[in-house]
Amino acid sequence: MINAPLTSLFPTLQQSLNGYPLCYLDTAATSQKPESVLQAMDHYYRSNNANVHRGAHQLSARATTAYEAVRHKIANFINAPRAEEIIYTSGTTHSLNLLAQGLSGMLANNDVILVDSAAHHANIVPWQELAKRTGAKVMPIGLTPQGRLDYTELTHLLVNHPVKLVAISHVSNVLGTVNDIAVLAALVHQHNALLAVDGAQAIAHLSVDVQALGCDFYAFSGHKMYGPTGVGVLWGHYAYLDKLQPLMTGGEMIETVSFSGSTYGALPNRLEAGTPPIAEVIGLGAAIDFIMALPATAKLQEQEVFNYLQQQLQSVPQITLYAAHPDNTGAVAFNLKGEHHQDVGILLDQQGIAIRCGHHCAQPLMNSLNITGCCRASVGIYTRRQDIDTFITALKGVIDLLS
Ligand SMILES: Cc1ncc(COP(=O)(O)O)c(C=O)c1O
Repeated sequence: MINAPLTSLFPTLQQSLNGYPLCYLDTAATSQKPESVLQAMDHYYRSNNANVHRGAHQLSARATTAYEAVRHKIANFINAPRAEEIIYTSGTTHSLNLLAQGLSGMLANNDVILVDSAAHHANIVPWQELAKRTGAKVMPIGLTPQGRLDYTELTHLLVNHPVKLVAISHVSNVLGTVNDIAVLAALVHQHNALLAVDGAQAIAHLSVDVQALGCDFYAFSGHKMYGPTGVGVLWGHYAYLDKLQPLMTGGEMIETVSFSGSTYGALPNRLEAGTPPIAEVIGLGAAIDFIMALPATAKLQEQEVFNYLQQQLQSVPQITLYAAHPDNTGAVAFNLKGEHHQDVGILLDQQGIAIRCGHHCAQPLMNSLNITGCCRASVGIYTRRQDIDTFITALKGVIDLLS
């Protein structure tokens, strides 16, 4: 169990920018990495570096054991029934592309794919490409005036169209709104469609139990959960994953190869062609160990800090907040009335405060909010109330400067 103050465990957070202590409110873009993750990757490269699954030597055996142990760790972490259902990818974008490519043979002309209209582009564009390949149609599921996924519209779409797949985010990367996946899975399954969930923004904030959620596929990235970049996961039911057409072919994924044709191996290797991101997988394993060792109160405290952030922003009259609900998590979207979001971001950055500004890879959401972009502040396990106070004080200074 970790007892140290959490912020002290993250080397990047121990620095000043322009003479101001770094106030990192951009965890939704990528989380900072604890020392233990850095050490695990360093140890792999210094002591065990070898390719996995193929060497007849001890280093390769050690690397393979460490690498495959993480697969079991991840399965345990998300309560997947089988470790072979954990497919390593380079991140959520890769996971969703792998899934969309894999489903190519299973969709037909005029089938419908429903997509959350608050989705990240990574959960929109691969479905559009799948639609181009198969003749299927992508249709958006609208939002309520409160900025939540419109479950009534989803029901209507499911009743009136030949829907094969529904793709939604667990947590919106812009608004921080949370979708009730268990309820949605039951609804989608009543209509014989599959549910794919983009868990990129949920995995670090919520407890993810894929069996309890009842979805068919779940995608996430290591770098948003205190792990390294370059690694992620696609989870799916074994029977469905087993039918996916591989996105990439080559070494590691085959059973036999000859010039008269090749056959493919079993899961998970069948969907993991080429040398995998071994050090990154090991880093992700260390990130899971880190999360599992957090005190029981850590996530509650993170949610309290997040609610404090929302409340503090709400108390500033010059701020417009988008879909800020108490049950949101991780991220809050806002604009300073009459000001460009980029100006706000730049002025905050001059005081060592990191937020994100822009369309956040969610242009359809920006269109439905009738804005070109916004600011987003997001928190992690290391964010403290004092960071929020620093941010709000600086934001008020920006308001004074611009008025
Ligand atoms: C909701 C959501 N989906 C997908 C992605 C893409 O993740 P990655 O860039 O790690 O592939 C992100 C990244 O911000 C995200 O927030």
